[in-house]
Amino acid sequence: MSARSKAHSAVRDVPQVDASTITTHSGHRGLQMLEPLIFEMGSSGRTGVDFPPVPKFESKLGGLGRQGAIGLPALSEPQVVRHYVRVSQKNFAIDSGLYPLGSCTMKHNPRLNEKVARLPGLSDIHPLQPQSTVQGALEVIDTLAHWLTTLTGLPAVAMSPAAGAHGELTGMMTIRTAHEARGDARKRILVPDSAHGTNPATAVLCGYAVDPVPSLPNGRIDLEALKAKLDDDVAGIMLTNPNTCGLFENQIIEVAEAIHAVGAYFYCDGANFNAIVGKVRPGDLGIDIMHLNLHKTFSTPHGGGGPGSGPVVMSAELAPFAPLPYIVKGPDGLRLIETEADQAAAGDGGQSYGRMRSFHGQMGMFVRALAYMMSHGSDGLLQVAEDAVLNANYVLARLKDVMSPAYPGPCMHEALFDDSFLKDTGVTTLDFAKAMIDEGFHPMTVYFPLIVHGAMLTEPTESESKESMDVFIVTLRALAGDAKAGDAARFTGAPYLAPLRRLDETRAARSPRLRWTPEAPAGANE
Ligand SMILES: Cc1ncc(COP(=O)(O)O)c(C=O)c1O
Repeated sequence: MSARSKAHSAVRDVPQVDASTITTHSGHRGLQMLEPLIFEMGSSGRTGVDFPPVPKFESKLGGLGRQGAIGLPALSEPQVVRHYVRVSQKNFAIDSGLYPLGSCTMKHNPRLNEKVARLPGLSDIHPLQPQSTVQGALEVIDTLAHWLTTLTGLPAVAMSPAAGAHGELTGMMTIRTAHEARGDARKRILVPDSAHGTNPATAVLCGYAVDPVPSLPNGRIDLEALKAKLDDDVAGIMLTNPNTCGLFENQIIEVAEAIHAVGAYFYCDGANFNAIVGKVRPGDLGIDIMHLNLHKTFSTPHGGGGPGSGPVVMSAELAPFAPLPYIVKGPDGLRLIETEADQAAAGDGGQSYGRMRSFHGQMGMFVRALAYMMSHGSDGLLQVAEDAVLNANYVLARLKDVMSPAYPGPCMHEALFDDSFLKDTGVTTLDFAKAMIDEGFHPMTVYFPLIVHGAMLTEPTESESKESMDVFIVTLRALAGDAKAGDAARFTGAPYLAPLRRLDETRAARSPRLRWTPEAPAGANE
């Protein structure tokens, strides 16, 4: 009996057939239904709406009106409703179950956030409205900015960036503008070899050469190797802390001192802020500038139904070079400084390089992040960090005898394993991840960070209960046992129980078919 089947022990004794060998007549698998594209479902002439006959009118299109049908699928209302319900059920989301994707902080998105974000005064406003009519919304942005600077110990913040990677770009452009303003254009950015791919990509996009810094066998940056690379051509470093191996960079103060000694800036990738929020202020560690993934630390995770948001906090020294817009308090209330002319009128001698995007940022994300912060309070946010770290260590401690931890000792917010426990089993990290799908778990992040062979990065976040982690752990322990016992086929053919079997991931990534094209009617090419 499986670890969890006790609840179903009332099931009658029936003949056992291997489910993976059953092919169904309908193509459905149990109540998981095979879903065609909506374009494949239509049948001409059917409709879900009755339009009144079009009254006589005189066309003003000068003969440019559409001549034929535009190819919309013709369906009845029940067909449309069922289609979209079934499509929605194909999503695996944090609302469906444990989502252990490391480096993504897939935490529960409290429903209170959604309630507040839907308040008409916040959801029905338009970014082009006169500022006097949106003072409440500006106050939300300003209050959130205040809490972000308070939590990070960095006094200024650019709120507009639309994601973590966009925040990185904002940060690098701010650093470049600050160097250039001193007439000191520099050429290199140091990036540890454990970094998220967006870090070197951002530096390159900004015109810098990336100089990789190796990691030590303990998963942290090699400080001596870093120091050997420092000279007055280095513009800055991009370091993630806690890093992508789920470890705290415990020489971060020394890193900051070394970087500052050559006049460079310390950019911190703050995607993993969840592990230290309320516990330590990055500004106190010598960091000059850092993005925060609101959609991780402050809920609404990727896949949680919304866009991202990556505000960038920074030191007073870098603040004059921050992008527009920003909010100031005037005699008539809050006001957005959106242009150079606004800056001049406000007597602000800032040297901004302009905008990073249209309008002011992701308003819905701002509201959710602020609702999350205010409902947790400072003690609650501290507990978020502590529980996230505790949960990751619980997973690590209970799996370390059957899987292979990448580094000895405790971790921060995520537990990292390599694939040495699969040696000689014929099972790869990818196979193991696919077998997890058959068990009802979204796989953890695999093959990242790149410096760990066959990496498996698991981040339970503080949202998980001990019970849900226990089921996950028992399952992974059993899978590790199956692999070592020689049951490779269970893995190499997985998933067996998902609606679709294993896809060609290279082809799916390199030549995705993103547009439906109708099949040519028979004989069309003859
Ligand atoms: C360490 C790290 N840095 C940067 C990013 C980029 O963030 P975003 O996906 O919001 O662009 C991620 C995303 O997963 C990350 O894990």
